[in-house]
Amino acid sequence: MKRLTIFLLLVNIFLTSSAKEVPLVGNIPGRQTASLNGDWHYIVDVQEEGYYDYRMNPTRWGFFRNDKPRRPEDLIEYDFDKAPTMQVPGDWNTQDQQLFFYEGTVWFMRRFNHQPKAGHHTLLYFEAVNYDAHVYLNGNHLGHHVGGFTPFNYDVTEQLHEGENVVIVKVDNKRRKENVPTQIFDWWNYGGITRDVLLVDVEPVYVENYSLQLESLEGCQISFSVKLNCEEAGHEVTLAIPELRITKTLTTAADGTASCFMKAKPELWSPDHPRLYRVDITLGGNTMTDEIGFRTIEARGKQILLNGEPIFLKGISIHEEKPNGGGRCNSTEDAHTLLSWAKELGCNYVRLAHYPHNEYAVREAERMGIMVWSEIPVYWTIDWTNFDTYLNAERQLSDMIQRDKNRANIIIWSIANETPHSDARDNFLSRLAQKARSLDDTRLISMAMEVTSASNYKNRLQDNMHRYVDVVSFNQYIGWYRDVNDAPKMEWEVPYDKPVIVSEFGGGARAGLHGAVNQRWTEEFQENLYRENLAMLSKIDGLAGMSPWILKDFRSPRRVLVGIQDYYNRKGLFSDSGEKKKAFFVLRDWYGKR
Ligand code: GCU
Repeated sequence: MKRLTIFLLLVNIFLTSSAKEVPLVGNIPGRQTASLNGDWHYIVDVQEEGYYDYRMNPTRWGFFRNDKPRRPEDLIEYDFDKAPTMQVPGDWNTQDQQLFFYEGTVWFMRRFNHQPKAGHHTLLYFEAVNYDAHVYLNGNHLGHHVGGFTPFNYDVTEQLHEGENVVIVKVDNKRRKENVPTQIFDWWNYGGITRDVLLVDVEPVYVENYSLQLESLEGCQISFSVKLNCEEAGHEVTLAIPELRITKTLTTAADGTASCFMKAKPELWSPDHPRLYRVDITLGGNTMTDEIGFRTIEARGKQILLNGEPIFLKGISIHEEKPNGGGRCNSTEDAHTLLSWAKELGCNYVRLAHYPHNEYAVREAERMGIMVWSEIPVYWTIDWTNFDTYLNAERQLSDMIQRDKNRANIIIWSIANETPHSDARDNFLSRLAQKARSLDDTRLISMAMEVTSASNYKNRLQDNMHRYVDVVSFNQYIGWYRDVNDAPKMEWEVPYDKPVIVSEFGGGARAGLHGAVNQRWTEEFQENLYRENLAMLSKIDGLAGMSPWILKDFRSPRRVLVGIQDYYNRKGLFSDSGEKKKAFFVLRDWYGKR
């Protein structure tokens, strides 16, 4: 009996392990895809009955089998087809009132039809699932992914059936010490399959990813490198940029890569001129298209130079939340609304906090001429000495860069926010910074630091990580967590010859609440705070930009003041329903003069 169980288990492992997670595929919007978005059935599984037996061992009779009773006496205690549905992509918190505060496991199931194309492969692509996902196709375990804001994909060619298929995802958004982010963070822990789910049609040999960049202004050179999904020599990849009259065919080397430089003088991408070029990449008769802009970005002394010219980053911080009323956003329309509000403020730059936002948002910002700071959620007190936590953070960093490395508008990769000083933290973060630079040495590296000493109105920033970043950024909350009346007396000391960004400042106001400037939560209090901060910060030597906290009131479980916060962080310049607060005009006018 024991031998049979082991044998069955081994068979099961063999069957399921043939499905594999494959390296992240780039430029999904430019590929042949079929959407699996729509209504998915869901089962809320508080005690993970669908995954563990009553001894807390993973069970092989779990919900992933989508079992149905075959005989009258059969006992199957779940039925996806009878379960309610919710929208994917989306979060469960705003779609099912009972799940507003819910953190735990929810199973999702969807049936779909598939007609295989002879000789083609199919990938199953998730743009993001928060937080911990086990994915099954027709009962086969495809893999396990952690991290709520970056994509992952599986080659499911062998698991797909002709005709009907069943995909099941176990999603668990419980917060844990070793996670990234860790147990506490000041945003809503929206759970679910929060971004697109797609079937991607590829040839057995396909272009996994590529990078196309302007090397330097002087050289007028564009560099192109491409990587196939396999290490094979002799494959011909053709790059075409019709408007630049460029057509170049490369042949891959034994490691499946190829690269080249080309002379070119493209119009440069910038906020005033967000010029994008259509780019075609062809392999084996299959062409995928992308839209790419060309620009250079660098730090020189205390200046940030875009296309060789000093630029001031007139920014605002944004959370990935629908313009009206909360919930994860995941569309070009939602992004366009939020980014238009930023444009109204006079912004040429946004900080997408504190995690990689969806690809629609990044691409829409690129079309709208908005530069981007993109960040991974290494936030507050991460489990620095836990190597799995480090690998998790590094993976999120690498996936963020792989997904967006061809976006001209992304100028800064941020590796952390407000992290407490320690050797373990420095080791963790310095490794991440070096990893980022090894993956992409064409952009600026930064992180949101904190002021380290503030006696006698002298604010000093001292952080070992200054060695690893190109831009020194810090958050400060004079006027909110510190007295606004001190602002005029404040002095700032940032002892590094690098550009300085104030990555956060701000204060709360309940839209429509009016009163004296020293009355907390009034619009007048926030308005005054902005005036004082802008006057104070413009004295900082080397100030190259800012991203005040924050564009819009956003949901947070840490904000519980009834009648004022009601589970919203109220530091927005817009209310949660899009009303402008008085401070909006202070910042707009200040940016208007810059
Ligand atoms: C911090 C943090 C934000 C938070 C903000 C606040 O600086 O980075 O995530 O929301 O402060 O307190 O409002």
